[in-house]
Amino acid sequence: MQPLQADKHTDRLYEHLRSRHGDSDSGANGYRLQTYFLREQELILAEIGTAATVADLGCGSGLMVKPLTGAGPDRQVLGVDYNEIACRDARNNGIHIIRGDVFSLPFRDEVLDRVINCQFLNQQPEDKAKHFISEVYRVLKPGGRLILLWRNDRALIHKLAVFVYRYIDRFTGRPEFPYYDNWIDDLELYSREPGFQCVKKQLIFPLFRWRFETVDALPARLFGASCFLVLEK
Ligand SMILES: C[S@@+](CC[C@H](N)C(=O)[O-])C[C@H]1O[C@@H](n2cnc3c(N)ncnc32)[C@H](O)[C@@H]1O
Repeated sequence: MQPLQADKHTDRLYEHLRSRHGDSDSGANGYRLQTYFLREQELILAEIGTAATVADLGCGSGLMVKPLTGAGPDRQVLGVDYNEIACRDARNNGIHIIRGDVFSLPFRDEVLDRVINCQFLNQQPEDKAKHFISEVYRVLKPGGRLILLWRNDRALIHKLAVFVYRYIDRFTGRPEFPYYDNWIDDLELYSREPGFQCVKKQLIFPLFRWRFETVDALPARLFGASCFLVLEK
């Protein structure tokens, strides 16, 4: 069997996007609206709290955890990304970055308190998404948490955005990324296999800070543009 690893085609698409946006623009990590990024960052930072060892996996240019850098010697904040330009940009942003593959994490067992992973699962087929969750389980300490955020392909608002952006992207030459529909219930169910317990499962609409606990209710189906899942080992 081929070892699981970053998809080279997508990696080249990221190089294209990164060379357009530079190291301090969330557009390089695929975000379209800075406010959207900032609202999601708020959520993530609140969830990380004061944890001592934090890793952002698939961190891109590291903007999500940038506010945590320089927090003192008692705190270790790391990023892992496969893309060379992302690693260079993350370094410029003050992130302690490791170039590596998140499907085969460069960490010993049970060393991390918090792992975050944002806007990554959208680009992974189900088998890779499952493998990734198991791999994170290995490196988390008992009681450690995995904080996941990814786009909800099923929300009406997201479908509309994809429809509109597809035309804009053709016009502006922005590359089209592969897209997989990893439904939140399915990933939550799968995460129980390695031994995770779900502590938070929401669909969110970051722009207005709306959160929906009942993921299949009508408001969530309409506006639940991002999946937010917090799992505890
Ligand atoms: C959509 S970007 C998200 C960046 C960042 N998490 C954020 O939300 O701002 C996805 C990132 O995952 C990285 N990536 C994809 N596959 C990877 C792999 N197997 N190992 C490490 N990084 C990977 C890409 O290089 C890219 O920087």
